[in-house]
Amino acid sequence: MSLDTLVQNKVLKDAMTVAIVCNQFGDTGKGKFVDLLSTWADVIARGTGGANAGHTIKIGSVEHVFHLIPSGILHDRAGKYNIIGRGVVLDPRVVVKELDLLDKASLPYERLRLSMNAKLVLPQHLVMDRIKEAKSGKEIGTTGRGIGPCYEDHTGRRGLVLNDILNRDVFVRKLKRNLAHHNTVLSTLDPDMQFTKKIMEHEHLANGAYFSQTQRFDLDVIVEMYATTYAGRIGAMITDTEARLRDYVGRKKILLEGAQGYLLSVDYGSHPYVTSSDASIEGLAKGVGIRVRDVDLVLGIVKAPYMTRVGVGPFPTEYGGERSEKHCQAEGMTIDLEQELYFDNALHHDNEFLRGIAIRKIGGEKGATTGRPRRVGRLDLPLLRYSTQTNGNKVILTKLDVFDDADKIEICKAYVYKGPAYRMGKYTLKQGHILFCAPQDPEILKHCEPIYGKLPGWNQKTPGIRTYEELPQKMRDLVEYIERKAKVEVVMISLGPEREQTIVRGGAAGIRS
Ligand code: GDP
Ligand code: IMO
Ligand code: MG
Repeated sequence: MSLDTLVQNKVLKDAMTVAIVCNQFGDTGKGKFVDLLSTWADVIARGTGGANAGHTIKIGSVEHVFHLIPSGILHDRAGKYNIIGRGVVLDPRVVVKELDLLDKASLPYERLRLSMNAKLVLPQHLVMDRIKEAKSGKEIGTTGRGIGPCYEDHTGRRGLVLNDILNRDVFVRKLKRNLAHHNTVLSTLDPDMQFTKKIMEHEHLANGAYFSQTQRFDLDVIVEMYATTYAGRIGAMITDTEARLRDYVGRKKILLEGAQGYLLSVDYGSHPYVTSSDASIEGLAKGVGIRVRDVDLVLGIVKAPYMTRVGVGPFPTEYGGERSEKHCQAEGMTIDLEQELYFDNALHHDNEFLRGIAIRKIGGEKGATTGRPRRVGRLDLPLLRYSTQTNGNKVILTKLDVFDDADKIEICKAYVYKGPAYRMGKYTLKQGHILFCAPQDPEILKHCEPIYGKLPGWNQKTPGIRTYEELPQKMRDLVEYIERKAKVEVVMISLGPEREQTIVRGGAAGIRS
């Protein structure tokens, strides 16, 4: 039976709307699975985040990375529609850049549609994002793509939407009002405009073309770029995608592509170390304009037996703890440089920090958007239990092959609280308390010490294996341990970046998760 048929018969069954989300801190392999399921889908839609995402699809030796365009675009030729929904913060520059790359590779995008209501990313959002990060000493470690400021403008009721670029007068009116706000804030943050000028020299900001010595932002240049250049290039793709998707529900096969991960959700993550959209299934459904109850099947991706995080924030199981966090944030740090500094790729290092470097190298854990080394830690079941409360219990495990050479595996089963007494309403959390489900509050999470369960490694290369039964017994033991301890159902297992490197295990229960 072909992989597509197996996936359909054993996993998707009679589901019509399926969502791929991430149950960790992002970068778990959403791109690979969206591409895989795109052969089944009629339409693929993104509903959250923006160009902060980096979704990788590997076909043979060619790697495609998409930041904004859905990962289903490679199936345009097969008649599939790809949609960017209303919940996305859309930077036209990035869309145009991705279209140029598709053109270069002779890949069509005739059926790409962009929501009229997608939030419009403007130069001031990138400036604000970068200036705040620079002034705060990279407090969050954002991707610098203007995500937070653009969502802030939306909730602050001064944002623009994509459709505005098609109506020049409306665009100018709204832009003036929006710039007045940003100029007021920036006049305090950067009174002599030196920071602004420097930031605007970046190629993401038209190499300085938007800067005005007198006004800070050159309104005319922005209007020309957005209402003429971008409108000309992407205007015909802008439409009411929500109406279309609502109409498709139950009639056509819809695949929703999540961005980021549950633990980075503005609503469920450990605030403030999060992104600015709701990366859960709830945010995703809303972000494409349908109801959560219209989603028949939610598949949550989970890296195992390790996980990663990019940027700042608590990560209890991180190999090398604070040292690793600082190392990964250091200016100019790359995977190549750390290899030069600490060359040794052994997974069995007693020194945790070095073990982390080995995992990063073997797993290729380099940020797809920023190129930063991703922080690595052990699989954290309290965090997984927390994510599945919203995202459901059907999961896909990825990257197990990275641990093929490991002789032992540690999995975090629970936490012991090691911080000061901490009041939560009438309950007081005290030192020594055991937690099985991760708390959302970083004030608690940062004092959580993991309790590890130890399992033996399988010491066997696995990327060529295609059935669950052929997997090493010790790998299956690990999969079943995760299922038991986190009360999840593992429906697929990924053993490499390519689509065929996938094991379909299927699910016992009905289509709803
Ligand atoms: P996304 O943001 O969730 O789409 O994930 P990214 O593309 O940022 O990061 C996942 C990386 O792991 C990509 O380079 C994928 O090609 C790669 N990948 C996906 N699944 C597997 C797997 O099972 N094993 C290995 N070794 N690599 C994988
Ligand atoms: P995908 O879809 C991993 C992280 C950033 C930072 C925080 C806030 O590829 O899984 P932002 O620029 O969004 O304001 O940054 O969120 N972050 C991601 N980390 N994968 C992503 O996307 C991410 N998108 C944002 O590193 O810590
Ligand atoms: Mg990614």
